[in-house]
Amino acid sequence: MLPLISAKPQNLSPPLSFHFPLFPSSPTKPLSFHPPLKYTLRLRIRSIDAAQPYDYESHLRTQHLKSQSLKIAILGFGNFGQFLAKTLSRQGHTLLAYSRTKYTDIAKSLGVTFYNNPHDLFESHPEVVILCTSILSTEKVLQTLPFQRLKRSTLIVDVLSVKEFAKNILLKYLPVEFDILCTHPMFGPESGKNSWDGLPFVYDKVRIGNEEDRISRVERFLDVFAKEGCRMVEMTCAEHDRHAAGSQFVTHTMGRVLERFGLESSPISTKGYGTLLDLVENTSGDSFELYYGLFMYNKNALEQLERLDMAFEAIKKELFGKLHHVYRKQLFGNADEGAEERPKVQKLLHNGAPPSADAVKPETS
Ligand SMILES: NC(=O)c1ccc[n+]([C@@H]2O[C@H](COP(=O)([O-])OP(=O)(O)OC[C@H]3O[C@@H](n4cnc5c(N)ncnc54)[C@H](OP(=O)(O)O)[C@@H]3O)[C@@H](O)[C@H]2O)c1
Repeated sequence: MLPLISAKPQNLSPPLSFHFPLFPSSPTKPLSFHPPLKYTLRLRIRSIDAAQPYDYESHLRTQHLKSQSLKIAILGFGNFGQFLAKTLSRQGHTLLAYSRTKYTDIAKSLGVTFYNNPHDLFESHPEVVILCTSILSTEKVLQTLPFQRLKRSTLIVDVLSVKEFAKNILLKYLPVEFDILCTHPMFGPESGKNSWDGLPFVYDKVRIGNEEDRISRVERFLDVFAKEGCRMVEMTCAEHDRHAAGSQFVTHTMGRVLERFGLESSPISTKGYGTLLDLVENTSGDSFELYYGLFMYNKNALEQLERLDMAFEAIKKELFGKLHHVYRKQLFGNADEGAEERPKVQKLLHNGAPPSADAVKPETS
């Protein structure tokens, strides 16, 4: 009986020769190794490279990841910069960072190369530069960066929580050759600590060149967030600011007000109260500088603050209006019966202070 495959191991010259059975069966019929064989086909492997290594698939995967990975520089390696770096590093991107404070050890633990000098960092030619500096400092930082050391096609991304301001200063200070992507990941180290799944990521492609590699680079960058499950929302910077003042700024304000108020956990906390405690925890980790930046650099913030103030006053008015009604009833309806309760009501109406002589005078309508 003929062997199914015969091989003569020897040096590459002459090449290895294999004998494969050739079946005179129909093309639709699956090959079978059982019937007796009439013909043999001689195949010659002409190159040893034709043989696939055992880890061929994982090699392909690594190659694919490498082709998708970006060289990314983070400027401003504080709270948010480090938070971003964790995910970027896990996704296999090459990370560099610069900050005015030395974060060499933290950077090392996150797989990031830390530079003490922005000139050195820019000479490493990152493909993407992410601005993670505070809202208040970014304009000053932009004016001092040595952009001439970067490649002229570099993509500059910002993550500032206010977008019109960011867009305007980027357009003002960056060389025209650079691409600009304004973004706002609408989550942070607290709200996004376990997962980014379903969390909104807002972006505006402010200026992206027409070349294919520039278009694909911005898509690869956005893919960092899409891959984590973020809800990708493309909108203009102006639209973002309008929405953010009514949601993010109000959230931060309420978190800070409740923190000052001094919320404390209680053994009989309701679900609603738990939500308030979570809100305080979510916002208290952010710097006051960030909050102040939301107020100062979003032109819609002041209006929202005034609306909050008015809403609070309106609620108080409604409550005290009812109280006033009860008070009048006590004064005129049951003048004698309510006598004991009156001082308590008066105290409440005057915020705990003793009422003045005028205030207790009954109205003469
Ligand atoms: N925290 C969040 O949840 C969140 C979410 C989305 C977007 N963002 C945005 O991310 C950016 C960073 O936020 P953050 O949470 O890390 O806190 P932040 O207080 O707003 O910013 C801190 C960062 O700004 C740098 N910085 C401050 N003043 C500087 C100056 N005069 N010169 C140079 N650098 C200066 C700090 O550098 P050093 O550490 O070296 O001092 C640090 O890297 C902000 O633009 C914020 O709006 C934050």
